[in-house]
Amino acid sequence: MAEKTDKMDSIINLCKRRGFVFPSSDIYGGFNGFFDYGPLGVELKNNIKQAWWQDFVHRRDDIVGLDSSIIHHPTTWKASGHVDNFTDPLVDCKESKMRYRADQLFFAPVRVAGETIGYVSLLEAEGMQAKAEELAADLKRKLAKQGAMEPVVLRDYTEAKPEEHALIPSPATGKPGSLTPPRSFNMMFQTYVGAMQDASATAYLRPETAQGIFINFKNVVDTGRVKLPFGIAQVGKAFRNEINPRNFIFRSREFEQMEIEYFVAPSADWAAAHRDWIECCLAWFESIGIPRDKLSLYPHPAEKLAHYSKGTTDIMFEFPFGVQELQGVAARGDFDLTQHSQVSGQKLDWFDEAAKARFIPHVIEPSVGVDRVFLALLTTAYHEDVVEGEARTVLRLPPRVAPYKAAVFPLVKNKPELVARAEALYRRLRRRFNVFYDASGAIGRRYRRQDEIGTPYGVTVDFDTIEKDAGVTVRDRDNLSQVRMSEDELVRFLDEKVNGA
Ligand code: GLY
Repeated sequence: MAEKTDKMDSIINLCKRRGFVFPSSDIYGGFNGFFDYGPLGVELKNNIKQAWWQDFVHRRDDIVGLDSSIIHHPTTWKASGHVDNFTDPLVDCKESKMRYRADQLFFAPVRVAGETIGYVSLLEAEGMQAKAEELAADLKRKLAKQGAMEPVVLRDYTEAKPEEHALIPSPATGKPGSLTPPRSFNMMFQTYVGAMQDASATAYLRPETAQGIFINFKNVVDTGRVKLPFGIAQVGKAFRNEINPRNFIFRSREFEQMEIEYFVAPSADWAAAHRDWIECCLAWFESIGIPRDKLSLYPHPAEKLAHYSKGTTDIMFEFPFGVQELQGVAARGDFDLTQHSQVSGQKLDWFDEAAKARFIPHVIEPSVGVDRVFLALLTTAYHEDVVEGEARTVLRLPPRVAPYKAAVFPLVKNKPELVARAEALYRRLRRRFNVFYDASGAIGRRYRRQDEIGTPYGVTVDFDTIEKDAGVTVRDRDNLSQVRMSEDELVRFLDEKVNGA
């Protein structure tokens, strides 16, 4: 656990130090749940989004793109069910004024020799069961209770009986009596559109990009480019007023989604389509450098499904703070199109020429957070090792997503001809790739600065480049091999590594 916490601390530290991610509004002390992506972070993030768009939109015939507005007509959210159902169960501690999500607050009665002697509570965290058992044993010791302790069975606060609310200690104070019963808290951010600030002007920042797709279904179908089955993809910001933002960029209040709504005929086998999409998403994660053995599947139990879902499977990733959702793949049936048809009075259906029949398609929704992919890539890539007797931090990011694809180094900076050659190579490479130029410091230090930010190749222009073979030395960040190649070969080499064969 300590090692894992250390790894998260090291990553957060690296992110700030090297310009990947900053706390938002840093100069004002930060703003909980919001983050700013720095010069390297924005590159990594853009590369993730670009790889996703290439693979799911450009390289497929059955998916088209969309970029809808963030603020929709407010009726959208009434029709979609978000105004009534997009809630988290909120618990207040009246004494400390802390607020918790009831489903992240766990408790257990402590029973000794058939008698309940008190309760323990704790917040969701790795090693929770062991911690709960420790707290229960402490309580038994404090009360000097004799007899065998029964197994500690943790439940979440949404399952507490009304008579238990006053008995469960607050995690803030350790004392019972201050926790309220859970109540529904809507997670949508509200705003006002125009000069009025009354109910008629209330609008919402979108909590998912999906609804922008459903309300444009008719527009996209009417442009005539699609045939069932087909998908509409969208990448964009979404906002949720999380009660407890946590785990760095994993759960923040402003984040970015990459979502596809994939429409199929109602007669299609939705369970098979759902399974195909799960496989497709797993394969995509592997293709961008997230290993399969860190991914697992979590099918949601029927009683925990979102209001729109017939079936959802989360693709989970082993983050340093525990196994958590990376992607949700939901079968939303015809819920959304039916709702928007009914509320808008517009026909949001599909005409099947062969069958001469109209129907509302069903939809499979693979939905993934850009920031979570970003964090999964960073935690996979982050390593500390020793090279030539010196400790280094290295990000083993695959070339396709790495912020810089290569760094160009003149071996020395006091040889004008050599420096001019390195600068010319840098200018040539940057027309096609994001590359970095660094002439300062010992070459070993320059390599290590690039290792730490994930640059896969270091290209050194040396005396032989100008005096002999016109070649350059290309050093591989991961296996440390050094290969000599011409500048033309280097361009082809980088192209293949970054864009594929
Ligand atoms: N559209 C599904 C989600 O945002 O979780």
